[in-house]
Order: sequence, then structure tokens, then C-alpha cells
Amino acid sequence: MRILGIETSCDETGVAIYDSEKGLLGHALFSQVGLHADYGGVVPELASRDHVRKLLPLVRRIMGETGTGPDDLDGVAYTAGPGLIGALMVGACAGRALAYGWGIPAVAIHHMEGHLLAPMLEENPPAFPFVALLVSGGHTQLVEVRGLGDYQLMGESLDDAAGEAFDKAAKMLDLDYPGGPRLAALAEKGDPARFTFPRPMTDRPGLDFSFSGLKTYTLTTVRAHAQEDGLPDEQTCADIAAAFQDAVVDTLVIKCRRAIKASGHKTLVVAGGVSANRVLRARLEEKLRQEGAGVYYPRHEFCTDNGAMIAYAGSLRLKAGERADLDIEVRPRWPMTQLNKS
Ligand code: KG4
Ligand code: ZN
Repeated sequence: MRILGIETSCDETGVAIYDSEKGLLGHALFSQVGLHADYGGVVPELASRDHVRKLLPLVRRIMGETGTGPDDLDGVAYTAGPGLIGALMVGACAGRALAYGWGIPAVAIHHMEGHLLAPMLEENPPAFPFVALLVSGGHTQLVEVRGLGDYQLMGESLDDAAGEAFDKAAKMLDLDYPGGPRLAALAEKGDPARFTFPRPMTDRPGLDFSFSGLKTYTLTTVRAHAQEDGLPDEQTCADIAAAFQDAVVDTLVIKCRRAIKASGHKTLVVAGGVSANRVLRARLEEKLRQEGAGVYYPRHEFCTDNGAMIAYAGSLRLKAGERADLDIEVRPRWPMTQLNKS
């Protein structure tokens, strides 16, 4: 079964071709980072318009590069939510229309399910059941995954998502959008021991997260050390970045250990943009090894948004008999626990 995958939920136009026998044949991504940089964040209307411009040329390119003609395809998978409504509409309309024109089925994919399954594209894939930590710009969730679509929410952020907190803290340090990876790079030059930031909600039982207090703590620290230009000196900025990253990573690691213990599973899957963070990866591996658990990630380029994860999730859902109707529906908000089990 060969599937075209389309991802347009936010600021990356991603396409891929996945073959259930041969694996991932190819993928292509156009990032809108340059387009939104001047605005300090994603401008939804600009995102939609750019998906309109980039999507079909990318589809044509990936089909050419992988030697795939419409007759070789068995389905089209597109992200139907959660995400920006206009951006989602572009991928959903194009994906549904291509499938209609080619006379093949289409399937609507949940963006976070795509992230969750992305580690299965790797050579040594995790097996069900496992605990998943989903950490992106919009979500921070611990999910018990028993099988495809069999998801039990164990805990989630009550306010900001981890990626969002990274992005906001980065802004306070005057780092350009997208802030997360830039803050992580700055943190490498910092001394994490100079400041100690709180580890929110780790002093009580439970698996929920809260990052808004940490955000306020960061702002207070930035202001307390600000010079005339409103910013602390370079080294202090790096030290604050390191302390912030340390606090987020520690908090995530503590909750993951708890979730692994509570579930009894021995596998942790980490996915979503923040799973690209090197300190998070290293510390999770170290601490979860102590619980006898293995940690699985997608390759670096598939941590953030991409078409490959959507093509892969689409292949599983099409195989399970799922089909999207012709009345195209996208869902900007869509709890993953509402998905069908297959
Ligand atoms: O999964 P993703 O590409 O898009 C969403 O579905 O949200 O995640 C993007 C998020 C952003 O908040 C970005 O700052 C964060 O992931 N991110 C990182 C790193 N790389 C991306 N955060 C911390 N460290 C990184 N290395
Ligand atoms: Zn994402």
C-alpha cells in the first residue's frame, strides 16, 4: 500500500510518500519560518496563503523524486486537526480533491497521532503498549498507548504547552522566532547552576503539568538583571536560558518516570517539536534507564511537523478500513482520546 501524506496544520508544508512494504520512499518540507519571523510568531492568514502556494508543487516534486504516479497510490492522508483552521483547510481540501480525482480513498489524520507514531518510522521501532510524552508548541501530554487509537490521557498541561513556554521564554530573552531551538542553543553557553528555577507541580502527586508560573519566574529574573537596553548581559541571558531549560526538562523527566511506574510499561515514546531538545533526550534516557525502561524518539527532522508521520499514520488507518467522506471536515480542536480504535 502506497500513501501520499500531507501536513499543513501550522507553519510547515510537509508531504511524503510511504509504502507499507518498502517504508518511507521520500519526504519534502517547506518551512515558513522566514515568512513569520518579522512578526515574532505564526500569522495564521499568511500561513494558509503560503500552504496554498507551496503544497501542490511539493506534491509534484515528491511524486517525481520517488517515481510515483497517481496509479501507484492507494490513498491520500491529510492532517485534519488540531491546528490553525485555515491552514488545515488547505491540506484537507487539496488532499481530498487529489484522492477524488485519482479515484482512491482519503483518510483524515490527527496531527498528534502522527507525532505519536513518528518513532515507528525508525529502524528499531517501539512496540505497543507504551507511554507517550507528546511535547509540541500546542500540547504537553502523557498518554498511555495500548494500540492504534487506543489512547488514555494520563496527564497534560493545565496552561501553556512546553514548546509554547520555550517560545515565550525565548521572546523575553529577545531571541527570534522560532524561539525553542534558539533558546536551547543559547542554553548551551549558560551555567544552569547560577539560577534555580522552580519545577512546577512536581511536589505533589499526579501527572499534570503547568508552565505559566515558570514563565513568570523567567520574566522576573530577566527584569531583575536587566541593563539599560532592557536585557541582562549576554552571559546572564545564557544562564537564564540554561536554568529555564533545566527546569522544563527536569519537570518533564520527573513526570515521565512517574507515568512509567504507574503504567507498568517499559517503553517511553517521546514526540513533538520539543523532543528535538538534546538535553531532554539525554536526561530522559539516563533517568528512564534507572527504571529499566527504553526511550524512543523520531529522527531529528521528524520531531517537528512533517508529512512522513501523516503518510505513516494514514497507511495504518487506511489498512484498518478508515475513509474520509467527501464533505471535508477539519477540527482545530480535537482531543486525541476521541479517535477510533483500530
Ligand atoms: O511539533 P511542532 O513542530 O509543532 C506543533 O505541533 O506545535 O513543535 C514546535 C514546537 C515549538 O514550540 C518549538 O519552539 C519547539 O517545538 N521546539 C523546541 C526545540 N525544537 C523545537 N523546543 C525546545 N528545544 C528544541 N530543540
Ligand atoms: Zn506538531
